Amino acid sequence: MKLLLVLILLISFVVIFINCSQTPETTDINDESYQEKYNKLKEALKNRKKHYKIDQVLSNHTLIRDALNARGYSEVKKSRSSNLKWSWSWDMLNPSSPNLIVNHFPNHNEIGSKKGLTTNLNNLYHRDQSLNSHISTIFPRSYDLSNLQQKESFIRDFNRGNSKLIGISNQDLLISENNNYMINEIQEEEKDNDPNLTVYPQQKHIDGNKNIWIVKPSSQARGVGIQIFTNLTQLLEYTKQGNDEYIAQKYVELPYTIKNTKFDIRQFVLVKSLNPLVIFKLKECYLRFCSVEYSTDNLNDRFVHLSNFQVQKEFLKDNKTPFPENQWSLDLFKNHLMEENNGKDIWRESLDEKIKKLIITTIKSWPNNSQNKGSFELLGFDILLSKDLEPLLLEVNTNPGLHLLTENVKIHHKIAIEDLFKVVLDNADKWEKDNNQYWINDLSKEEKIEHFGQWEPIYIGDYDPSVKPFEIVKMQSIKKVNKEN
Ligand SMILES: *[C@@H]1O[C@H](CO)[C@@H](O)[C@H](O)[C@H]1NC(C)=O
Ligand SMILES: *[C@@H]1O[C@H](CO)[C@@H](O)[C@H](O)[C@H]1NC(C)=O
Ligand SMILES: *[C@@H]1O[C@H](CO)[C@@H](O)[C@H](O)[C@H]1NC(C)=O
Ligand SMILES: *[C@@H]1O[C@H](CO)[C@@H](O)[C@H](O)[C@H]1NC(C)=O
Repeated sequence: MKLLLVLILLISFVVIFINCSQTPETTDINDESYQEKYNKLKEALKNRKKHYKIDQVLSNHTLIRDALNARGYSEVKKSRSSNLKWSWSWDMLNPSSPNLIVNHFPNHNEIGSKKGLTTNLNNLYHRDQSLNSHISTIFPRSYDLSNLQQKESFIRDFNRGNSKLIGISNQDLLISENNNYMINEIQEEEKDNDPNLTVYPQQKHIDGNKNIWIVKPSSQARGVGIQIFTNLTQLLEYTKQGNDEYIAQKYVELPYTIKNTKFDIRQFVLVKSLNPLVIFKLKECYLRFCSVEYSTDNLNDRFVHLSNFQVQKEFLKDNKTPFPENQWSLDLFKNHLMEENNGKDIWRESLDEKIKKLIITTIKSWPNNSQNKGSFELLGFDILLSKDLEPLLLEVNTNPGLHLLTENVKIHHKIAIEDLFKVVLDNADKWEKDNNQYWINDLSKEEKIEHFGQWEPIYIGDYDPSVKPFEIVKMQSIKKVNKEN
């Protein structure tokens, strides 16, 4: 440690010495000794030891540490001296400069919380007419129950589903005897002429015939607080508990299953920049299975319905499941699809493209006014497949778990993290040039692999000068102001 300090001091002295001895007035740019010194200095700066800081307890950062150490970085406890920070949230990162490389954008909750994602996809649906039918295809319609208009819209949507079941007409909805609760809600809030009251269209590929809805607390992860309902009164009662805000989402009643078991796809995505929008998708992904065969007969059985590994782990402790460790690599899935479809490579021919499109539309909903030069965002998309193999977005995680819990993720996560640093740390000189994101387009397939490994660039957008850039406000001063108030 002391040795390191001495080394840093030494380099600093050399830097200061060179700077002082070469003021611009006295420098002849062609002077050979100047050039030599300049090159040496450049080299020294390039080889200067870089530091990183990790501020997160809930994940396994072995892979991040290993990858950065292999690049000659070393870990520090004090953030002041770090070049790269990895943490749970923007507030915890608290970067002092836009040049510090950090693993979040300032507004990551706009995509990483269930409420943010729902609100922004619903906004995009209204804002961009060219995207609304795609959004209806990929996103099970969702309502933010903490917003009165959306709650009312949800109640209407729920009752539309019920009326279909029991065969009553739309006009009868508001006086349906089964739904006293709803009648009270709507009478309290007279908002029939409100343009914000939107009941989203029905989605045949997911609706099923039981009018099942799922509610999720906005801020929780790992399946905590998620419940499935067919009864409106019970659903609304449930969401009144505690301080959580909830979203209600149409449950996908007809998922694609393997061995009659439900699963979802965990797909890693990397956003390099928000304005211009630059998106990478990891070529690998993996499947996370439930432990018990799929059925809508027991909606309270989490082992049937929720594919989060943290939920299913409980079952795995003392039971055998149809799939070892409840996971499949992409290769196993591709083979399965081929076997099911007479050798047709469904993944390559259509599914992969559909998933890319899903990712791009989803990220377009993320407000782009939080561009910060040093930020990147590693996202874990949870994608379900409908019975007819349409990918559906369940949620987006801005801190995808990196625990090495299964043989499968030991390989997957290692590739993801090692190659992530290729994207975010290498080629700084190319990215630096004024919004020169298009350099990627000139790369051959081989060069892309050389530069980005398993991360495939899937969207290179234009820079939008009309978007006001985000400005870093030091948290320290905010805290002080709060105290003074
Ligand atoms: C509709 O929603 C927007 C955005 O949330 C809000 O600004 C506006 O006041 C709402 N309109 C009404 C009539 O409530
Ligand atoms: C819904 O649940 C409430 C409260 O548990 C119950 O009184 C009501 O009968 C249920 N409604 C239906 C349609 O099952
Ligand atoms: C973190 O990863 C290391 C390296 O694979 C492993 O030895 C350790 O058990 C992991 N810890 C957790 C909590 O997953
Ligand atoms: C940024 O977002 C605005 C609206 O929120 C949109 O009109 C604009 O096209 C976006 N710019 C880029 C580069 O995506």
